[in-house]
Amino acid sequence: MSINKEIKKVTTNTLQKMKSDGEKISMLTAYDFSFAKLFDSAGIDVLLVGDSASNVMAGHETTLPITLDQMIYHAQSVIRAVDRCLVVVDLPFGYYQSNSEIALASAIRVMKESGAHALKLEGGTEIIESVKKIVAAGIPVMGHLGLTPQSIYKFGTYNVRAKDKTEAGKLKEDSKLLEEAGCFAIVLEKIPAQLAKEVSEHLQIPTIGIGAGKYCDGQVLVMHDMLGINTEFKPRFLRQYLNLADEITGAVKHYIKDVKEKDFPNDVESY
Ligand code: KIV
Repeated sequence: MSINKEIKKVTTNTLQKMKSDGEKISMLTAYDFSFAKLFDSAGIDVLLVGDSASNVMAGHETTLPITLDQMIYHAQSVIRAVDRCLVVVDLPFGYYQSNSEIALASAIRVMKESGAHALKLEGGTEIIESVKKIVAAGIPVMGHLGLTPQSIYKFGTYNVRAKDKTEAGKLKEDSKLLEEAGCFAIVLEKIPAQLAKEVSEHLQIPTIGIGAGKYCDGQVLVMHDMLGINTEFKPRFLRQYLNLADEITGAVKHYIKDVKEKDFPNDVESY
């Protein structure tokens, strides 16, 4: 038996059990083969091929421009790398909002062409028919509520969402609707910790927080933020575990110096 067959893969059922057992779920974004392989080997539970690829990989200001083909390309690279973790892929803006038939067609394309394990869609009641159709086709769906970046032009800012009663009430209702529609988990982005606590306690399915406090059933961060590759983004919720920007800049400067000074390559490094 190969080593890979002995690895116990993370499934949506595993995440549900983790919630029941009180074990927190770890999730990070990944967009390419090399990082996904490192994260999977390190033991991450879930990798999200986020449409934040639009920002951190392509340099766009928002997540709106990324296409379905580009998401499939990133998802294929991540899927090739992993042995254990669950890989969730964002359905990008414009490929599911217009109607549930289009949403299902987009969902099927991502699943078929990338080998992804699950999809994530942003929104509540507005997309509920699409969620139901995709789930009915046998595709696991993760919801995403609170600061949903695909709606940034509606919000106008990246500030904390659902601080007022009306928006908090709608978020709670949406979370229940998503659970009833068959979602296996919900990302809660940038909402008050107390609201995230109430939602997490109210739902059977796990919540995964980003800027939503410690009571969520799991946490997610964008890899470029937590590794310190992207140094301009410093929101309060972010814990930066490395300063890769400095490390990489230092290494590249060292390499440039070695080349300029004819130190690299030396005889041992030559054929
Ligand atoms: O695209 C993304 O990276 C996300 C996370 C912020 C949850 O949706």
